[in-house]
Amino acid sequence: MGGMEFNKIFAAVLVAGLIAMLSGFVAEKLTHPHKLKEDAYPVEALEAAAGGGQKEKLAEPILAMLAEADIVRGQKVSKACAACHSFDKGGKNGVGPALWDIVGKPKQAVGGFVYSGVLNENGGNVWNYEELNKFLWKPKKYAPGTKMSYVGLKKPEDRAALIAYLRTLSGSPKALPSASHIAAEAAALAPKEEAPEAAVH
Ligand code: HEC
Repeated sequence: MGGMEFNKIFAAVLVAGLIAMLSGFVAEKLTHPHKLKEDAYPVEALEAAAGGGQKEKLAEPILAMLAEADIVRGQKVSKACAACHSFDKGGKNGVGPALWDIVGKPKQAVGGFVYSGVLNENGGNVWNYEELNKFLWKPKKYAPGTKMSYVGLKKPEDRAALIAYLRTLSGSPKALPSASHIAAEAAALAPKEEAPEAAVH
């Protein structure tokens, strides 16, 4: 067998091998189109177990935004609440309690409304700016079992605008937050690492 012939045979074997590999690969893709996606999870879990990423999600702070917040935008955002809440002075309770003068008011204190009773289980008894922010971010996370069927406001700008608007709905609007108040909120809502057990599923 000459060198040329040997090379030809070698090349043929190589090509056959490549074709076999490729068709195997294609067949694999056709039969398991989601394989790559499925594989992604264990890697994430491993990273989490190794202590990577996985911060507990908290509402973004909004106190620093209140002084400059857009009240008109807040009034627009409040349309999402109007199906259940009145914002007028002397307004009546609906599906939810009337919200005139709600900033700084004790929780669950609107006369004639039957509450779930869970709104004060997290974060004290008063609707100050911080508590309104955390509640309106994710009502059901803030108060599991609440009667308020509302998903929440994701955007910090929307919550700041809405809370700034709520502040105006009063005969004597509450003072805007001080610098130390703003700093305390930022510290309380700074992302924390979850406990390691919680990160591993
Ligand atoms: C589908 C109806 C519904 C919508 C929409 C809704 N709420 Fe409520 N809200 C309720 C109910 C019901 C309660 C009473 C919750 C409880 O007792 O657990 C409540 C409670 C509250 C409270 C606490 C009042 C208190 O006296 O303690 C605030 C503040 C509030 N809602 C603000 C809002 C805002 C702001 C929006 C819009 C972004 C909104 N809600 C959207 C039904 C609703």
